[in-house]
Amino acid sequence: MRYPGRTHVFASCQGIMTKMKTLVFLGSVRESTPPRPMRLGARVAKACALQLSEMGIEVEIVDPLEIDQTPPFKPHFAYSASRVPADLRGVAAKIGAADAYVAVSPEYNHSMSPALANLLNHFGSSLFSYKPSAIVTYSAGQWGGARAAVNMRTFLSELGCLPVSAMVHVPHAQDVLVDNGTFAADVDEERWKGYFGGTFRQLAWWAEAAKAQHQVTSPTEAFTRDPSQRNAP
Ligand SMILES: Cc1cc2nc3c(=O)[nH]c(=O)nc-3n(C[C@H](O)[C@H](O)[C@H](O)COP(=O)(O)O)c2cc1C
Repeated sequence: MRYPGRTHVFASCQGIMTKMKTLVFLGSVRESTPPRPMRLGARVAKACALQLSEMGIEVEIVDPLEIDQTPPFKPHFAYSASRVPADLRGVAAKIGAADAYVAVSPEYNHSMSPALANLLNHFGSSLFSYKPSAIVTYSAGQWGGARAAVNMRTFLSELGCLPVSAMVHVPHAQDVLVDNGTFAADVDEERWKGYFGGTFRQLAWWAEAAKAQHQVTSPTEAFTRDPSQRNAP
């Protein structure tokens, strides 16, 4: 099946067509320099959103700077239902309604960013589970965050949104992307779009497969939910 130019729609059991929904998690809250430029992650998240929109996929960026994550750390699932703060309730609803996720992280000390881990730690795996994710990393240097991507696989797998095998790494992101998330004039835009698209086409394929299977068997009926039930005998 060819994906470019195709609008990703699902037929629900009532025959109503709905667009595939993807959330892009922006993994930086850095508002200071050095290093320059500041918060490259905004460009990379916008680039992901643009490529996904061009594939006909509904997409929204989740920006941790726009969400009240008041310290001390208290995740969404630690509140009684009636007391969940509005910001957390809103993002939780979006995570539950999304079909797929894109996790955008800079590399900080060869690891995924603490801002992304903190954002995702606020939400339980039941919201993410049995849906796919894509890993997108970037850096100002030459490795494009590839080392951060390694531990993002384990993190996202534990959340239950399994990462697809293809990944996007953007080295020298400050030279590849401009502020609005489009490609810089002197890079090969078609090659970059093909590179992002390879990962996002896998994401869309898995999201369609998972959505179809959700309608055959509900994961909550098919699998045990108490973590202790996963223990070895
Ligand atoms: C605390 C910190 C640690 C960093 N560690 C790495 C690193 O391990 N590898 C790397 O390639 N770049 C590293 N960098 C450089 C970042 O790739 C670069 O600053 C990038 O712009 C960060 O993304 P952001 O601007 O969206 O926060 C680090 C930057 C910071 C602030």
